[in-house]
Amino acid sequence: MTSKTQTLLLLPGDGIGPEVTEEACRVANHVAPDLQIETAFFGGVSYDHFGTPLTDEVMSRAKQADAILMGAVGGPKWDGVPRDKRPEAALLRIRKELDVYANLRPAFCFPALAGASALKTELVEGLDIMIVRELTSGVYFGQPKHIETLPNGERRGVDTQSYTTGEIRRVAARAFELARGRKRDSKFAGVLSCEKSNVMDSGLLWREEVTKLHAEQYSDVKLDHMLADAAAMHLVKAPKDINVLLADNLFGDILSDEASMLTGSIGMLPSASLGEPGVPGLYEPVHGSAPDIAGKGIANPIAAILSLEMVMRWSLGRPDIADSIFAAVGKALEDGARTADLGGSMSTRQMADAILKHL
Ligand code: IPM
Ligand code: MG
Repeated sequence: MTSKTQTLLLLPGDGIGPEVTEEACRVANHVAPDLQIETAFFGGVSYDHFGTPLTDEVMSRAKQADAILMGAVGGPKWDGVPRDKRPEAALLRIRKELDVYANLRPAFCFPALAGASALKTELVEGLDIMIVRELTSGVYFGQPKHIETLPNGERRGVDTQSYTTGEIRRVAARAFELARGRKRDSKFAGVLSCEKSNVMDSGLLWREEVTKLHAEQYSDVKLDHMLADAAAMHLVKAPKDINVLLADNLFGDILSDEASMLTGSIGMLPSASLGEPGVPGLYEPVHGSAPDIAGKGIANPIAAILSLEMVMRWSLGRPDIADSIFAAVGKALEDGARTADLGGSMSTRQMADAILKHL
């Protein structure tokens, strides 16, 4: 590890974002007091101040940082704002400009929460899935993309799904590498690649390229393919069959929300978005800004705190600190610490304190 000061750019964002990232920040100050933390506006709050959800200044600070930790963006307040100025546009821009194409979304069921899952306890006990979602291409970015008015007066919305071989191969490589470090003996013990190759050309290309790359470089890893709709079903039927689930941007978005409910609450899930070596990683809870509970101090800070855990592991080269954060979350849950989303009554602060107690 270098002796250079490492910087974390904190983008609290909107809704519950500031509340949960504040707790992640307290944990960071405790476990890594040398880490330099800077804060900036991002999302709706940036739009309110500067008329844009992401200023060029913040974008360039993001590129300089070692890692970026985001809270959440968006809310009904910005519903009427044009799409290119909406809080979500900031998220898409920062992902695209950093080119953080591999979005890691672990769905891990802490033993203490097995009973809180929407599924039967025995289906989720020991669950540990890593979803690898392609993040910077596909239908969210493809052109053309617009709403047009047809000659007959009808309107038509157009989005374009598109993937190149390079875009598929680089994210698939990440999934294979992750699977190498996660040995399992379950049914889909290596990478389970999901697409709709039965109806989509981009899906067919996806399957072909993943298969080729596997044969060329990763034949030691087990590879299975599944249609994305069937994978949605399998996730609730026998989720423990799955180890690393690889999917494109759209299917990965949907399947990761589904997987989050297996773990007890979407308030538990962190994510890491990674690009090529040297590019700062972008970390964020999978949950949204939850406007309905914002400002009440009752949001679950665990997804944000586990996002910090991923910062330590994937960007800052501090796996020992990451391990201790992860263990502390597990112990707090064993102690019975529960926020409202987990059926308890603890505040955001109290949950963080319950975790800090073990650090
Ligand atoms: C996510 C979110 C975002 C996405 C939205 C807010 C743009 O759903 O990170 O999963 O679709 O990627
Ligand atoms: Mg989503």
